[in-house]
Amino acid sequence: MRSDETGKRPTDYYQITMEKVEVEIIPDQTTKVWSYNGQLPGPLIRQRGGVESFDQGRQSVVRFINQLGQDAEGQDIRTSVHLHGMASNPEYDGYAEDLSYPGYFKDYVYPNDRAATIWYHDHAIAQTSRNVYMGLAGMYIVEDEFERALNLPQGNYDVPLILQDMRLDTKGQLVFGDRGRRSVYGDVVLINGIPWPRMKVERRRYRFRVLNASASRTYQLVLSRKPNGQSMNRDTLHVIATDCGLLGQCVPLSAPFQRLRISPAERYEFIIDFSGYDPGTHLFLRNPVYSHNIDSNADSQVLMRFDVGKGPPKDEGDLPEFYPVKSIFELAREEGIKIGGPRVFRFQHGGNRWLINNKGWNPRRVDANPEPGAIEVWDLVNVAGSWVHPVHIHLVDWQILARNGRKPPPHERGWKDVFRLRPFETVRVAARFGTRDGKYIKGKFMMHCHNLVHEDHDMMTQFEVGTGGKSSCCAPPKPVSEILPL
Ligand code: C2O
Ligand code: CU
Repeated sequence: MRSDETGKRPTDYYQITMEKVEVEIIPDQTTKVWSYNGQLPGPLIRQRGGVESFDQGRQSVVRFINQLGQDAEGQDIRTSVHLHGMASNPEYDGYAEDLSYPGYFKDYVYPNDRAATIWYHDHAIAQTSRNVYMGLAGMYIVEDEFERALNLPQGNYDVPLILQDMRLDTKGQLVFGDRGRRSVYGDVVLINGIPWPRMKVERRRYRFRVLNASASRTYQLVLSRKPNGQSMNRDTLHVIATDCGLLGQCVPLSAPFQRLRISPAERYEFIIDFSGYDPGTHLFLRNPVYSHNIDSNADSQVLMRFDVGKGPPKDEGDLPEFYPVKSIFELAREEGIKIGGPRVFRFQHGGNRWLINNKGWNPRRVDANPEPGAIEVWDLVNVAGSWVHPVHIHLVDWQILARNGRKPPPHERGWKDVFRLRPFETVRVAARFGTRDGKYIKGKFMMHCHNLVHEDHDMMTQFEVGTGGKSSCCAPPKPVSEILPL
């Protein structure tokens, strides 16, 4: 809403109000959702980032105002906003206990260090699954010069796809049920707020940025020419990026055998090249099987339809070459940093709660204390056989070194911040802690399962980078009566 060009890093100011709003999801019915700025999903923010001078990176200040009022039980709807994928200072990271009550606001500062598809969502302690399910999620895109210079589709050809699933009652109202603290599933899958959307596409390449903003559901994405049954066409998703930015190479995944699994909070970007399809072709983005999810019928297996237009096909040559992702071991060698760890975190069920190393959430406890600048290996262990845990670690970008001792698949060999832990699986990851442009961010940051029901029922802990960092609650929300213009 306003920009400030002075200072070391120019700043753009945004204001987002959280409020209840009626939207039309099903024709002729309105559904009450909890929204950012009256929109489902929340408004898309595109920002210029990067730390090199040629990037002309900018900083964002986003004012989030809580006007949600009370829930059906008459309780205040408390919020905390986390920008997932941003290396924010502790007081702007959406700490679960840094709560805004209705009638309060908070100005969050975001540095926009690097290009990636990230997202903002609610993170209120013990209420995150409900708050996100009710609609509090939105996409935030950071772009830098390096990425702009690649020959990738831009503008109208660079399209967010935000997946959310919801269950509506006969009056069209959202039903939240976590099935005894297990998971919350919907029976309608929305893409950008619309069930079964159709998109007219030109005969050329598009870049899609997929975000799984569902509270619990994992999807397996496949492109196919048939709405149901198996496709034998080798229709291809060319995966180019994951959670924290571009991959080192483009990874083609073709129907019917290769599917793009995306668990809650993960992001993937892919190119679809529509130039090879005849005018009038229908292509379907499908979710053929729900593994570790409750199943549903064929209707919910089709997510959206692309209708290929009539114009002449556009020949765009080869996909651009990417730059290899430097392995974190190489980085350690170059900079003479010793690699610490492994620290081991075991994710398991216990006494109607979800636990990490047999413990639930305790804001006064810290379970790991890496030094600023240290590189560490962490082992994330799914102890049991019946649940998938998509584990998210705040603040830093990670590389997956191994899944049960084996190299991860090519489309996971980029920087990530969510790791799908399959049953009985150990995922070994490594990261450098607390760096930003040569400076260190110290303080406490959360790690948790991003099945938000698991998170709410205690599968969350925190680590602290260094000592003496700022407190996560040192910039508390203020009453709206104290609002000054941004
Ligand atoms: Cu996407 Cu701690 O969250
Ligand atoms: Cu979990």
